[in-house]
Amino acid sequence: MKIGYVQTSPIFGEITQNFKQVEDLLGNAKGDLLVLPELFAIGYTFISKEEAESMAETTEGKTANFLIGLAKKTGAVVVGGFIEKDGKQIYNSSMIVSGSEVLGTYRKLHLYYKEKLWFSPGNKPLEIFEVKKTKVGIMICFDWFFPETLRSLALLGADIIAHPANLVLPYCQRAMTTRCLVNRVFAVTCNRIGNEARGEDNFVFTGGSQITSYKGEVLSSAPKDKPHIDFVEIDVKQARDKNLNKYNNVFSDRRTEFYSLE
Ligand code: ACM
Repeated sequence: MKIGYVQTSPIFGEITQNFKQVEDLLGNAKGDLLVLPELFAIGYTFISKEEAESMAETTEGKTANFLIGLAKKTGAVVVGGFIEKDGKQIYNSSMIVSGSEVLGTYRKLHLYYKEKLWFSPGNKPLEIFEVKKTKVGIMICFDWFFPETLRSLALLGADIIAHPANLVLPYCQRAMTTRCLVNRVFAVTCNRIGNEARGEDNFVFTGGSQITSYKGEVLSSAPKDKPHIDFVEIDVKQARDKNLNKYNNVFSDRRTEFYSLE
């Protein structure tokens, strides 16, 4: 199957322009799984909770419609970030879309920095979405810092981790090689580029979107400072064999009775 990403340079609050950038970069590309950045249509650097609230949507909003259009055009299952509104709460979420259907959302569990002022932390269990005979798990950006996130998705059966991101630290790409290796899963980390100076903050996003194999190999690496798209062909079945060799299995070798994870 072909898995890929679109690394973009969103302009804060310019939703229509940000949608268009994704479409222009993709052209007539086709694939099976396509990952977009965290909050790809909005930008990242909010200055108040009210501002973030004003950009929140349900899974019937314009971002859902846009992603459905993209899924139809590319033939891919599409995962992209948005602000999810549920009653009075808003979440830093990603939506997964297949054909004309929104399959579900993932609400970021580990909020970074001032995200804690704007968003409620995710309140739903980690989940696997089964599409095209493939099990997709979703995590968002800073979730990578907590190895439990990817481990849990892998134990739930994920073959591929869709990882929308707005990375501002330089460590994730290296860490993902180890995360994927020790769990024997593929991952598509889709980051953004550019900078956003708003309020007291001036974030520089680190690009370098990456597709990582179940052996920890970097199959695709985007530039740090340019928009980029890429798709790579993978054999997803390789992620289902958790044997490292004849004697070691990365799941059944765990000594859970000796771990204290509380
Ligand atoms: C981040 O989690 N967007 C840094």
